[in-house]
Amino acid sequence: MSDKTFYITTAIDYPNGKPHMGHAYEKVVTDCYARWYEFLGRDTYFLTGTDENGQKLMESAKTAGKETLEFVDENVAVFRKFCDDLKIRHDDFIRTTEKRHQDVSKDIWKKLEANEDLYFGKYSGLYCLSCENFYTELQAPEGVCPHHNIPLELKEEDGFFFRLSKYQDWILNHIKTNPEFIVPKSSRSEIVSRLEKEEIRDVAFSRPNQGWGIPVPGKEDDFVMYTWCDALVNYYSALVSNNLQDKYWPADVHVIGKDIVWFHCVIWPCMLHAAGIPLPKQVYVHGMILAADGKKMSKSLGNVIDPYSMLDKYPLDSFKYYLLRGIPAQSDGAFSEQELIDKHNNELGNDFGNLIMRVVKLSLKNIPPEISGTGVTQDLSFEDCFTKMKEHMEKREHNKALDVLWESVNRVNQYVNEKEPWKLKTDPEALTPVIYNCVFGIQSLALLLEPFLPETAKKTVSYLGSSSESFNDLKFGETHYKLETPEALFPKIES
Ligand code: ME8
Repeated sequence: MSDKTFYITTAIDYPNGKPHMGHAYEKVVTDCYARWYEFLGRDTYFLTGTDENGQKLMESAKTAGKETLEFVDENVAVFRKFCDDLKIRHDDFIRTTEKRHQDVSKDIWKKLEANEDLYFGKYSGLYCLSCENFYTELQAPEGVCPHHNIPLELKEEDGFFFRLSKYQDWILNHIKTNPEFIVPKSSRSEIVSRLEKEEIRDVAFSRPNQGWGIPVPGKEDDFVMYTWCDALVNYYSALVSNNLQDKYWPADVHVIGKDIVWFHCVIWPCMLHAAGIPLPKQVYVHGMILAADGKKMSKSLGNVIDPYSMLDKYPLDSFKYYLLRGIPAQSDGAFSEQELIDKHNNELGNDFGNLIMRVVKLSLKNIPPEISGTGVTQDLSFEDCFTKMKEHMEKREHNKALDVLWESVNRVNQYVNEKEPWKLKTDPEALTPVIYNCVFGIQSLALLLEPFLPETAKKTVSYLGSSSESFNDLKFGETHYKLETPEALFPKIES
């Protein structure tokens, strides 16, 4: 591990149905950070996958009238395709039913056991099958799941426990002394407050073996590991199985949603600490995508928007752009199709797409396609924009990074309006420097946009025929161009 590498993960999804908008959001956001750090020159590794060992999957398969494995295999294929359809550049896709994951999970179990952090006992508590989690009375005073709003089930079981209580002070101290460990602050405060107020109970780490899950070492016939106990290990097992742990562990960022913060910020670091493995550097908690009415998307309310219904209608990059800029990076956001259309038409179409059309077409009509910058005075610079974007991305504020980039898009548009190059058609000597400044601007913007909208960036750059490929290679005056006729990148959508 070093500052030269960057390891980022999404949560692994439950493949008990189709991918939903929350899954799309998390993948698009994580992809943008992976690409951003790659853009900055870091050797980046991006992991995603599926969480397959839960009891919930057994129940869902039964309802669907299928064998669990057959049901899971079919759904996992859909999740894999979803990553392809979103053009996510992940390096690995881990399935927790794979042997490579099971082996590492068992090794970690044995390490916890050797450290005397596992013991056998009886558990009794209120359980939600959808979360695969027990709740305390403080968390669910009405006996209803705070996330799924369904009645909790009283469960009494014998099994293995993880001594989480032993680490309460240690993890609280870790979170307090490492302010970047949980981002944003609101999530950190919630966890700190819970750790300060509640006496943390040990966690039931096994379930009776009903024929699905990872068998507990030494007790194979009787118990399987609690699904969260093995699921969290995926971030590590994926690396170990490819012998990449020395290069990429500890993870730089785990990207997760608000409903699973406790598992990632308390249980997971305590497991790692107990097993003698270094902790991830950060857990970035994004908000939840809500329905347009601001309520949680739910089938019973009939307000669910299927991501494929958006991908069928709109360009992939318009969908991504809306998710990345239209939804706040650190709080919940309501998904509005109208806003997606508005952003496509106004920001992508008018501000960005038209800028390319106006400049390149005007140039091709009036001067040769080869544009040299020799002797041209630089009127526009993008270093400041880049610096501010870097700061926002470092703070996990990708929407603000795009706001900053758009200020520059607007500045180039303003420059065109001020210079009125259409009035210089008959004066190539006056027109060329203006065009050069604009084209240099367009290329700078496109390269800065690449981690967010890779397809758009690639197409834009292809119309410029530039002699420099990366943002760092760009040199005003030295980089030269050979323009080609552009196509409309974001044709107007009628709402
Ligand atoms: O929680 N908006 O899987 P999952 C944004 N298997 N994000 C959302 C969302 C929404 N409406 N709904 C869910 C699990 N998510 C576990 C994870 S990791 C070791 C195990 C996010 O399929 C959710 O917060 O229910 C999580 O980060 C991810 O989608 C997968 O959710």
